[in-house]
Amino acid sequence: MREDWDRRARENARHFVNTEQTDWTDENFFASGEKTVAEEILTDMGNICQGKAPAEMRVLEIGSGAGRVTRALAGLFGEVHAVDVSGEMVRICREALRDRPNAFVYQNNGQDLSVVPELPFDFAFSSIVFQHIPSREIIECYVREVHRLLRPGALFKFQVQGNVGPEPRPDETWLGASFSERQVVEMALRCGFEPRYRYGAGEQYFWQWFFKS
Ligand SMILES: C[S@@+](CC[C@H](N)C(=O)[O-])C[C@H]1O[C@@H](n2cnc3c(N)ncnc32)[C@H](O)[C@@H]1O
Repeated sequence: MREDWDRRARENARHFVNTEQTDWTDENFFASGEKTVAEEILTDMGNICQGKAPAEMRVLEIGSGAGRVTRALAGLFGEVHAVDVSGEMVRICREALRDRPNAFVYQNNGQDLSVVPELPFDFAFSSIVFQHIPSREIIECYVREVHRLLRPGALFKFQVQGNVGPEPRPDETWLGASFSERQVVEMALRCGFEPRYRYGAGEQYFWQWFFKS
């Protein structure tokens, strides 16, 4: 995964992060991250903040890419910690966040969160990342790891591929493993989450609301 994403980052990081354009300007690229936050977070502040002020919240992001969403998260929340498997993406992301002292980006091993400081997190988020991971076991490992770091009751909101197709080859890093409704519910329960809501079953953008029990 690391080799493939490093190669994509060197070739055209912003395009592989968001394939809507091949030649993103700074302005449009970061505006697309603000749009993701407007659509997936600002519309859902009750579940996400649970009465806390955003400026007092510590947030975790899995798969920061080139900092598109990370930058918007850092503008909203008190502290943001993000991981990515690709050292090249991490380098680009840190550059994109150089004026955001409340954002911390780590290169991880592509399957757990051992690089993240053991701090209580108030919210975790991941979008267009798990859809690229070929192994359901690795995705479940991330879910367990998020459970370890979240405070009780907090939300992990994330997207998986819901368009169930053939099993990906283990070395595939673009079209990842897909999930049925039953598979996500079972994964949540195995990992200690309440799978309270989900949206988009059968589609590419299959969103999960996992609350730490
Ligand atoms: C399509 S990009 C999306 C980036 C960001 N979430 C966004 O929406 O702008 C996917 C990112 O996930 C990262 N990634 C892929 N597999 C990963 C894994 N197993 N662990 C951590 N990051 C991974 C890639 O390096 C890439 O930066």
